[in-house]
Amino acid sequence: MKPNKNYKLETRSIFAGYDPAENFGAVKPPIHPASTFIFPDARTGAAQMETAYGIEGAETPPEDAFIYSRLGNPTLSVAEKRLASWDDTEMSAFFASGMAAISTALMAHTSKDRALWYVGPLYGGTQHIIDDILPKMGVDVILMDSLNKIDTMDISSGLPGMIYMETPANPTLQVHDISLATKWAREHETEDAKIIVAVDNTFLGPIIQRPLDLGADLNLYSATKYIGGHSDVIAGAVSGKTEAMAKVYEYRTFFGGIVDPWTSWLLARSMETLHVRVERQVNSARKILDFLQEKPGLKIFCAWKEDLEKVGDYKAAAIVHNQQKNGGAMMAIEIPGGRSAAFAFLDALEVFKLAVSLGSTESLAEHPASMTHAGVNPEEKIRTGITEGLVRLSIGLENADDLIADLESALEAARLSL
Ligand SMILES: Cc1ncc(COP(=O)(O)O)c(C=O)c1O
Repeated sequence: MKPNKNYKLETRSIFAGYDPAENFGAVKPPIHPASTFIFPDARTGAAQMETAYGIEGAETPPEDAFIYSRLGNPTLSVAEKRLASWDDTEMSAFFASGMAAISTALMAHTSKDRALWYVGPLYGGTQHIIDDILPKMGVDVILMDSLNKIDTMDISSGLPGMIYMETPANPTLQVHDISLATKWAREHETEDAKIIVAVDNTFLGPIIQRPLDLGADLNLYSATKYIGGHSDVIAGAVSGKTEAMAKVYEYRTFFGGIVDPWTSWLLARSMETLHVRVERQVNSARKILDFLQEKPGLKIFCAWKEDLEKVGDYKAAAIVHNQQKNGGAMMAIEIPGGRSAAFAFLDALEVFKLAVSLGSTESLAEHPASMTHAGVNPEEKIRTGITEGLVRLSIGLENADDLIADLESALEAARLSL
């Protein structure tokens, strides 16, 4: 079946990037482990290399011609076309990890003259790059209290190169208004000073939230999570329009953070089931939230409109309404009794696995303050609500009733530990 824009997203995307007719009718793509590719002749080789290096006056090389697997690879190409199709955009680039994707995008679009503006909280690894690495490279990093205050930011010393956010944010599910940032960027940028709006969409993925449709320039993922989806690959991705992606590809080539062909093949395969996994995880998450809502005194953090309205957070509910299809399958709960009660809760779980990461077939639980966000400084933890009682949950594909029973007995264990 040839991809056709009239088909719905799932139909267009699950098999995008691969044509069996070009591979003996094999219904699934082959893996190409080759590190290097033979040029048909010297002139074509020169055209390919010179084009890859952006040399002026280079001859146009043939389409889908490969050079060396640090620049591109046929198996990777299947995965990248598939993700670009899910994200409904021109280009996607896979990386060896989410951090490789994020650090490459940050370095590609910030410099000593073009600051990074961001809103928190952020995944601990991203926060580390922002606090400890970018400043050493001379990049000004500016934390905005809230995107609502973007109009009050001082631009007398220059425009930011990038506005960065994670929404919903890890681990408290705080949401940020993507359109507010993209509108501001489009109003303030100039032909010579483009402002890149980058959104880490790891917590929802393309089925639920589509930052590029809201005008964002780059959509980033830890593909280790929902896109890989089985806790058996480490990968990252960036999708976006050709212009913003050009520098991302250039920096990937020279930093060398590209993903390998074997992982690319697994990513391409996993994306065939992305929508069904996510739909099931979301349905179970909704049932689990309904159960948790019945527990008196339990503070719940999620990105579902109805739950946000219930606690009177109409601003966040409106953002969710505008930019998310639903609330996703991530949530956090604040276990009364601090760290010891949270640990008693985690140790009592049987169906949920006690591990970092998220977005997999199995349900996962972890303690952000001492695990994923252990490196975040204490003031920032307090400011962003990463308390000692906070437990993050990622809902997998098990039976929702079994997950609820597991939570019920772990909550009881936490209560008894007080
Ligand atoms: C929101 C978010 N962004 C980025 C990352 C980093 O991804 P990776 O572990 O694939 O490098 C993570 C990892 O947990 C994450 O949760």
